[in-house]
Amino acid sequence: MLIKIKKSWHIADRDATPENIYLNRRNLIKGLAGAAITAPLVGLPHLALAKQDRALISAPRNEEYIIDRDITPEEENLKYNNFYEYGSHKKISKAAQKQLKPRPWQITIDGLVEKPIVLDVDELIAKMDVEERLYRHRCVEAWSMSVPWIGFPVSSLVNLAKPLSGAKYLRMETFGDKKMASGIRQQSWYPWPYVEGITMAEANNDLSFLVIGAYGKQVANQMGAPIRLALPWKYGFKSLKSIVRFSFVKERPIGFWEEISIQGNNNEYGFWANVNPDVPHRRWSQASERVLHTGERVPTLLYNGYGEEVAGIYSYLKNEMLFT
Ligand code: MTE
Repeated sequence: MLIKIKKSWHIADRDATPENIYLNRRNLIKGLAGAAITAPLVGLPHLALAKQDRALISAPRNEEYIIDRDITPEEENLKYNNFYEYGSHKKISKAAQKQLKPRPWQITIDGLVEKPIVLDVDELIAKMDVEERLYRHRCVEAWSMSVPWIGFPVSSLVNLAKPLSGAKYLRMETFGDKKMASGIRQQSWYPWPYVEGITMAEANNDLSFLVIGAYGKQVANQMGAPIRLALPWKYGFKSLKSIVRFSFVKERPIGFWEEISIQGNNNEYGFWANVNPDVPHRRWSQASERVLHTGERVPTLLYNGYGEEVAGIYSYLKNEMLFT
C-alpha cells in the first residue's frame, strides 16, 4: 500500500493560495487538461487577468508541493529579477522583455548519453507531463519569494536523455548570444555563458524542476524564458535561466558564480550552495531573509525547509554541504 507522508511544509491548498486570481485562473484553464497545451489568449474570457501577451498554460497543481507562505504577487516577481545577461541590478525586466527571443529555441542534450539530440523547446515540452508546483525561492542575497512554477521534473529529461553509466553530473548552460543580451556585451569580464551543474542524485531528486511557466502563463523573459531550472533547497543562483544545453558529464562542472569566486580567490560561491542559515556568506549573514513582497524578515531554514526531501543526498558529505 502506498502511504503518503505529509511533508513539514505541506498545508492545505486554500491556505497556501490566498490570491483570488488563482481561483479565477483555475476556472479559466479548467477543461484544458493535459500536458503542455498552450492556448492563445484570444477568445478566452477574463483577459484582463493576463497583463502580458503570453499564452496561458494548462497544468494541474501537484498537491505534494504546497508551501506555508503567501505566493509572491506576479507583479512583484516580474519587476525584481537577477539576470546578469541583462545587467547586474534588479530592474532588468524591460531589457529582457525587449531583447530575449524565446521562440524558436533549440535545446541540445548531449555528453555521455545513448544518443545526443537537438530539439525545439516546444518539442521537448510536448514529451513531458506538465504540472504546477508552489516552491520557495531563496536568493543567496537573503531575499525570498514563493512562486507557482509550471514545468516538469528534471528526472523526466534524464529519462529522455538516457545517460550512460559514466555520467556523474548534469551540466546546464544558458544562451550566450551577445545580440540577445546587452549585459553580455557590456560586462565582458564575466565568464559567459552562465553555466551550472548538479550531481545525478540531485538531478533525479523529485524536487528538481524544469520551469516553462509561472502564474499560469508561459514563464516571462525576465524569469528565464523559455525554460529554466528551479532547485528550491539551493540558493537561487544554481537555478539558471533560459537554458540551451543539457550535458551529462563525468567531471564536476564549475558554475558561473563559482568561477567568479575562483578568479577572485574569495570562496564566496561554491558548487553545493544548499541553503543553510548557519553558514554566513563572507559578507553577510544567512540566518534570516527578507520576504520580498511584505518586507518581513523571517528565519531561514536549513535546505530552505526541504530537508526531508533532500538531506539524504548529502549524508556522505557532512562538511561540504555546509559550504555556500
Ligand atoms: N540565470 C542566468 N542565466 N543568469 C543570472 O544572472 N541569476 C540567478 C538565477 N539564474 C541568473 C540566473 C540568481 S542569482 C537568482 S537569485 C535567480 O536566477 C533569480 O531568479 P528570478 O529573477 O526569477 O527571481
